[in-house]
Amino acid sequence: MSGAYEKAYEASIVRPESFWGEAGESIEWTRRWDKVLDRSASPAPRWFVGGSLNTCHNAVDRHVLAGRGAATAVIYDSPITGATGKLTYAELLERVSGFAGGLRDLGVERGDRVLIYMPMIPQTLIAMLACARIGAVHSVVFGGFAAQELAIRIDDAKPKLIVWASCGIEPSRVIPYKPLVDRALESAQWRVAATVVCQREQQPAQLVRGRDHDWDELVQRAEPAACVAVAATDPLYILYTSGTTGKPKGVVRDHGGHAVALLWSMQAIYGVGPGDVFWAASDMGWVVGHSYIVYGPLLAGATTVVYEGKPVGTPDAGAFWRVVEEHRVKVLFTAPTAIRAIRREDPDGKLVREYDRSSLEALYLAGERLDPDTYFWARDVLGVPVIDHWWQTETGWAICANCRGLDELPMKPGSPTKPVPGYDLVVLDAAGNPLEPPAEGVLALRLPLPPGTSPTLWQNDEGFATTYLTLFPGYYFTGDAGSIDEDGYVFVMGRVDDIINVAGHRLSTGRMEEVLAAHPDVAECAVVGAADDLKGQVPLGLVVLKAGVSRDPADVTSELVRMVREQVGPVAAFKRAVVVNRLPKTRSGKILRSAIRKIADGTELVIPATIEDPSVIEDLRASLRVE
Ligand code: COA
Ligand code: AMP
Repeated sequence: MSGAYEKAYEASIVRPESFWGEAGESIEWTRRWDKVLDRSASPAPRWFVGGSLNTCHNAVDRHVLAGRGAATAVIYDSPITGATGKLTYAELLERVSGFAGGLRDLGVERGDRVLIYMPMIPQTLIAMLACARIGAVHSVVFGGFAAQELAIRIDDAKPKLIVWASCGIEPSRVIPYKPLVDRALESAQWRVAATVVCQREQQPAQLVRGRDHDWDELVQRAEPAACVAVAATDPLYILYTSGTTGKPKGVVRDHGGHAVALLWSMQAIYGVGPGDVFWAASDMGWVVGHSYIVYGPLLAGATTVVYEGKPVGTPDAGAFWRVVEEHRVKVLFTAPTAIRAIRREDPDGKLVREYDRSSLEALYLAGERLDPDTYFWARDVLGVPVIDHWWQTETGWAICANCRGLDELPMKPGSPTKPVPGYDLVVLDAAGNPLEPPAEGVLALRLPLPPGTSPTLWQNDEGFATTYLTLFPGYYFTGDAGSIDEDGYVFVMGRVDDIINVAGHRLSTGRMEEVLAAHPDVAECAVVGAADDLKGQVPLGLVVLKAGVSRDPADVTSELVRMVREQVGPVAAFKRAVVVNRLPKTRSGKILRSAIRKIADGTELVIPATIEDPSVIEDLRASLRVE
């Protein structure tokens, strides 16, 4: 199929309407679209305008109607609890329509928001699909976030209902969700009248009468709900992601473009179709989980794996390969940090060789930069193609990848290969002028973005425009810097804003700074992402104490670490704060975060000409050394 990628790419850029219109034929619509692409829509172009469909019908019902009801839809594998299970498409349909009926009995209607705070259990996926079935908009919040983060999302999404599980389970502890949900509901301004609780035997929750409904009882009473047709441009979900400010951004995904793009991507990018086992070892609380644990594989009629475990410690670094062998996984998708964690414990690949990996055709990695060292290790021990692909919560699927389903291109370590069809990627200078290869600049996408990408932020068109569209008119600003070489291969260097990437999790340093600044002894602070061998980056907080504070700095810093854990969540992995005399600033008072980062990493630093007082650099080096 040589040349298939080039052909598809060119067609998608030159004639996007016919390219995506053709891809749209693979989805079942209740009403065909009037226009494949409305370029005049605001704040961004919209896809499949005038069409209507139901995403759950396409992901579940239609496979059953096509006679594939007995095929496995979901494999649940939980080394953390010892549980395993399978759901066929017919069983999934029954579970989803039953829960959708329960949601409806609680008054949830088309367009209502439902917040989902649940761990890696099949009920999470069922709750998401049940929302899609009745046209409700789900917003899943990752379990590693604290009550306050949950409250922030409640106030923005204004949900009618919250669906939660009684606990999450980490290798070291069971985390009861009730205190988190109770606290979030108390502190949020928005009033949520009802919740549904999925009780887990490891730690059932005491229900609040009149507010909390037991999942099983609700379903027992409910009549199964049928699919509701919604507009292609209606929101399917809101997923909050870290922005540069403390307030997370509510990334909106629509129904039509999302279904078309994800189904297309399963074959073209991952080479996966009906009957194949696809495993995204991520969490349903992240975009990878939304797109490639839930919607993508199910739209494709494939089998998805819901894995409640870690790459290491559940019970060892062979866990991933055990799952591959047991469930005959064809394609595995995870974050580079997971591979680094495995490599650290199994450097020679001894555990890798203990399992039969003959089903595995490729390993896909995303979420953070794939360092060449990790790439070579994975490729050599696994003996299958290792594919780096670059994407973001906002895009919902890969911007750059080696599209193995079209044709496999030679790899260049350190590069996520080339732009995926639909993405017109350019490198811009600071003034917005396109740069010639191999110059480095800001990575931007010429509009229109392909289907499936976020058309706006939840009830915030203006925020969408100012964050992504106005900086470089005619382009979507990705927030990443990088370059494209003479062969068209893309290299992503990292964020140009204050977003950091910790173990493949996107976090806002601004949010952590908000927490540090609220400490009564802190005069000013900065949080940067310092390099870390395992997690890629970890947050490092520098604080200047208020004049006259004479407490032991160690007491203050341990309070700060506790505050971030309690207010943002354990997932922030904020473990290190350092008291310093001053922060490096420009003459206009802007904190020089990149200089701080370089000092923390011990990498070469050219002292910026704009610095207010160069002597602060030595001061800072000494403080970080002493630490
Ligand atoms: N609920 C509650 N707490 C959670 C959580 C969840 N769903 N997920 C993580 N946490 C907690 C962890 O227990 C840990 O707490 P601790 O400070 O008490 O140890 C903290 O948040 C940080 O978690 P994490 O960053 O995951 O670090 P770790 O040391 O537990 O594990 C890795 C390290 C590399 C094994 C792990 O980060 C990993 O599997 N990464 C892959 C990431 C991934 O899949 N990303 C999605 C994009 S593809
Ligand atoms: P998220 O929205 O959580 O998916 O995070 C998106 C950010 O993660 C991107 O803007 C990049 O900075 C980074 N990222 C994701 N995938 C890659 C990759 N393959 N290579 C480099 N950076 C990546």
